[in-house]
Amino acid sequence: MNTRHFISLLDLSRDELHQLIARAIYLKNHRDPDYQPLKGQVLAMIFEKSSTRTRISFEAGMAHFGGSALFLSPRDTQLGRGEPIEDSARVISRMVDCIMLRTHSHETVTKFAEHSRVPVINGLTDEQHPCQLLADMQTYFELRGDIKGKTVTWIGDGNNMCHSYIHAATVLDFDLHIASPQGYQPDKAIVAAAGPRVKLFDTALAAAKNADLCVTDVWASMGQEQEQKQRERDFKNYQVNKAIMNEAHDDALFMHCLPAHRGEEVSAEVIDGPQSVVFQEAENRLHAQKALLEFLLCKH
Ligand code: CP
Ligand code: NVA
Repeated sequence: MNTRHFISLLDLSRDELHQLIARAIYLKNHRDPDYQPLKGQVLAMIFEKSSTRTRISFEAGMAHFGGSALFLSPRDTQLGRGEPIEDSARVISRMVDCIMLRTHSHETVTKFAEHSRVPVINGLTDEQHPCQLLADMQTYFELRGDIKGKTVTWIGDGNNMCHSYIHAATVLDFDLHIASPQGYQPDKAIVAAAGPRVKLFDTALAAAKNADLCVTDVWASMGQEQEQKQRERDFKNYQVNKAIMNEAHDDALFMHCLPAHRGEEVSAEVIDGPQSVVFQEAENRLHAQKALLEFLLCKH
């Protein structure tokens, strides 16, 4: 049997993603403590980088479903002392039922998955953050219905989140308008593979025109802290503020994966304002990932 992994949003078909979003909304609205489909199952979580939402949502989700989660960091496992990824994957996957990794290099997760007997979930790499997109899309569907044919604007760094938005645009069939400073645009191959659904704009204002959803992320991601000052200069015209939201539709939503820096990539007025749904989006990490764990681990 081929083990299903969730390394990229592209690992799901359109139908599967729609079903997963619908299931996440159902699980959110019908919490049943007696429903324990993962009783006795164990999720190992390997974090090379910090996390609040990803760690807590996976850990709580496994507990709700009757299973348990192990938090592992390279600092206190042999991974940090150079044990090969391949060997670690072979060993860990003989002991647990699912493995989530948050790593710097995307290749660490793909290589791990190649040697794992159990499903592997990408909990964020420098290239992609597909779990966040499950929650973002669940939030859009809850509040506005199907995102097909809508316009989503990404303002800021062409980073892991931006790449997963590009994937979402192709799977769910929405237009994605991206405005990033020169030198910070998304990966050319990922943009090219997405086709006409994805367009790059020269200014944030132009990209935001008629948007149904505006999204941004930090200017300096984890691992780029030393570039913070340079990035503050390079991204100064790429803040989502009232002027940007005025270009979008009146009922446009604002999302941010969090953590956020008010006064940098988003003004306090927008993130704390009526169009912002960032805390519903954060909560949905729990529900969307429960639907994902059920999809990957329960017999269909
Ligand atoms: N959005 C997100 O992944 O948050 P954490 O870094 O806190 O997990
Ligand atoms: N782009 C951010 C996302 C954090 C959830 C980072 O990689 O740090």
